[in-house]
Amino acid sequence: MNYEEIMKLALERGFYFQSCEIYPDAPAGFWEYGPTGVSFKNKFVELWRREMIRRDGMLELDGSQIMSKSVFEASGHLSSFADPITKCKKCNSVYRADKLISEAANVIVPESAPLEDFDRAIEEHSIVCPKDKGQLEKVKKFNMMFRVGIGPLDEPAYLRPETCQSLFVDFPRVFKVMRGKLPVGFAQYGKSFRNEISPRQSLIRMREFYQAEIEVFCNPSKLNELERFKEIEQTRINVMLGDDEQPKWMTCKEAVESGAIPNKLVAYYLGLLVEFYEKTGIDVKRHRFRKLGAKEKAFYASVAFDFEVETSLGWLELVACNYRSDYDLTSHAKLSKANFEVMDGEEKVLPHVFELSMGVDRSLYTILDHSLRDDKPNERVVLSVKPYLAPVQVGVLPLMKKDGLYEKADEIFATLKRRYDAFFDVSGAIGRRYRRLDEVGAPFAITIDYQTLQDGTVTLRERDEMKQERIKISDIESRISKLLAYP
Ligand code: GLY
Repeated sequence: MNYEEIMKLALERGFYFQSCEIYPDAPAGFWEYGPTGVSFKNKFVELWRREMIRRDGMLELDGSQIMSKSVFEASGHLSSFADPITKCKKCNSVYRADKLISEAANVIVPESAPLEDFDRAIEEHSIVCPKDKGQLEKVKKFNMMFRVGIGPLDEPAYLRPETCQSLFVDFPRVFKVMRGKLPVGFAQYGKSFRNEISPRQSLIRMREFYQAEIEVFCNPSKLNELERFKEIEQTRINVMLGDDEQPKWMTCKEAVESGAIPNKLVAYYLGLLVEFYEKTGIDVKRHRFRKLGAKEKAFYASVAFDFEVETSLGWLELVACNYRSDYDLTSHAKLSKANFEVMDGEEKVLPHVFELSMGVDRSLYTILDHSLRDDKPNERVVLSVKPYLAPVQVGVLPLMKKDGLYEKADEIFATLKRRYDAFFDVSGAIGRRYRRLDEVGAPFAITIDYQTLQDGTVTLRERDEMKQERIKISDIESRISKLLAYP
């Protein structure tokens, strides 16, 4: 389904909508999840915990969103986390220079290119303000962090632009008290904040957004000594080594042997990621790991692959996979004087970091994009998400309000609602109620009718094929648990 159809569903069925929407000064780039969206997001994050965190024995933290200025001095964000911008001399509209150049002249100038490259492209292609054709000012850098003032003295601090900084800063304590052993993943799910110049397309580019980040601390001399690589060596990934090259499908083993992926540790986590996304219901046949060029990589990355998925909006980056080497731990050690070295067997090492930085909101959008379908013959729109990700897991519907059916349905609902995301619906014709459940991806509905009162059975209706069968009330819970189980 396309962006407009997904947006319509999001607004009408309580997935997400614009923040402060009742006020004219609502800033762009801020979105709220409604009840359906929260339930969907929670299940996605739980799947991430199951398939990445628990599967790999990682340690999950929950750090502060506001962090000290020193953190970002050390991390390099104060000096380097900036976008190139230009301003119209006539109307003062501000543009991200790389985006404006690519839209106006179809020329790619990577965002981390020297400022002169942007000015040159603007001049060569005679690019002007798209609104009033005004001349553009020279390109400069705009730091994307939100500054906040702490206490009455307004001490400077920042809303974190990536969740991972607490994973680095907390590493010495957590590794010690949790008796860590390299390689070990530290993980965090939470909000990050970036003062984007051009937020757009709802969940795709926001100023306040959710990340689920994993930082794998490892011994750089043992990147090819990973026992658990065996688990994923036959998993197939699609690797694109340059923007002019065709992506190639290969197993993780072949990826390491051919040198497409630098080592077993990186390949293992890329394989794990693909296996995770397959379980989200995203069509992983439409993924690629795109290797970033020197000018496209983030300033802290020495090797970087973007995990991208094709959607109706084109290719979307869902996860940045960055080999950050010892960039972060060295910088924090230098500024804080804390000791980040740990023992790996007999060897003292300053760990390197491989990162999987996931955009949660974009991932949710992509699941909707790949799962929402227009079932024209049955005049319905169906969100065919995996049952364990469904925001509503079961609908409970009395056929009529009268003759004791409402009461019987309410009794059944009461037995289900604490264990499942169950939804009780009495309003409207039964067909309309089924369709509303189909739109929020409810995999099953239980209908209570006159026969229920006679023989204690209900109708179990399945979402995708619309198959119906009669089951006993006493079997409802075991059937639902089975149908909602993870693979
Ligand atoms: N931590 C990497 C990122 O936020 O993209």
